Amino acid sequence: MSTSPAMNGLFETAILYPDLDAQERLSRLVGLDDHKDRLTKILSLLINPQGLKQWASKHHADADQLVNIILRRPPLVVLAGDVGSGKSELAETIGDAVARQEDVDLTLLPLSLSSRGQGRVGEMTHLISSAFEYTVSEAQKLKSSNGASRGGVILLVDEADALAQSREEAQMHHEDKAGVNAFIRGIDRIANRQLPVAVIMCTNRINALDPAIKRRAADILKFSRPETKQRFSVLSSSLSQLGFTQKQINSLVEVTGPTGDREYGFTFSDLIQRLIPAIVLDAYPNQSISPDQALRVAQAIEPTPPFEEQ
Ligand SMILES: Nc1ncnc2c1ncn2[C@@H]1O[C@H](COP(=O)(O)OP(=O)(O)O)[C@@H](O)[C@H]1O
Ligand SMILES: [Mg+2]
Repeated sequence: MSTSPAMNGLFETAILYPDLDAQERLSRLVGLDDHKDRLTKILSLLINPQGLKQWASKHHADADQLVNIILRRPPLVVLAGDVGSGKSELAETIGDAVARQEDVDLTLLPLSLSSRGQGRVGEMTHLISSAFEYTVSEAQKLKSSNGASRGGVILLVDEADALAQSREEAQMHHEDKAGVNAFIRGIDRIANRQLPVAVIMCTNRINALDPAIKRRAADILKFSRPETKQRFSVLSSSLSQLGFTQKQINSLVEVTGPTGDREYGFTFSDLIQRLIPAIVLDAYPNQSISPDQALRVAQAIEPTPPFEEQ
């Protein structure tokens, strides 16, 4: 897919799958196996409905009602939950698993709303409408006249907190409502035309999801902070190479969890992007890393507070 002028500045860099880098990043995600499986299946059905038809004709030849129910599901999956828990990482890499499973080429078009749409009146709405416009036109090129598709598109609407917010909330600004409406129109348009497109929306605002968006979601996958077992997997994957014992890693697992005066523990990204580098930098350049030093560093770090619902 070439970068046309229409796409300039609208999306971040597109990712084409299969892609080795995405495959590797996906395999590094911990504790998300169920999410990976569910998301791979949902996206596969949306992007390659032919696959389900073939499966049905092999196993349940007379079950066209059943197949129709599945194929008419809305083309939206919502990834919702705590910050730093792997939503963006999963959304940006799952396309690789889908492309390999279905043996098709996929393109991810990533739209991040965090730093946009807050300026001029109408900007958010315009951004959303243009993103859907472009996605639909690309997907139409992939659809053959016999209904089969030669590939698919994943539209990623990341950092969509303002969109996820319920339109019924009184304090919601008029402009944000218009943004939600543009999003819903876009979803309906893709659904009506049965295009090989799936939309992934990521939001931290799990409790405020707009009912109209909820209704259109084929699935809502919830993300949370790592439990004890998951903290152990993340920490041991880098620290066991240093010769840390299970017991020493477990001490770190404990201090990075909820403690007496703190109800929440470290997020995945607190562990990987803050704690591990802090341990390394504390020792560098004159010392080696020791378990006591690592523990001291961990105790000095405050985990990211949970996202506050306003
Ligand atoms: N489940 C996980 N397993 C391993 N690493 C993770 C996981 N979740 C997040 N991370 C790490 O934290 C970083 C931030 O995660 P991200 O997907 O951006 O979080 P968010 O849920 O806020 O979108 C990722 O790049 C990755 O390195
Ligand atoms: Mg994110």
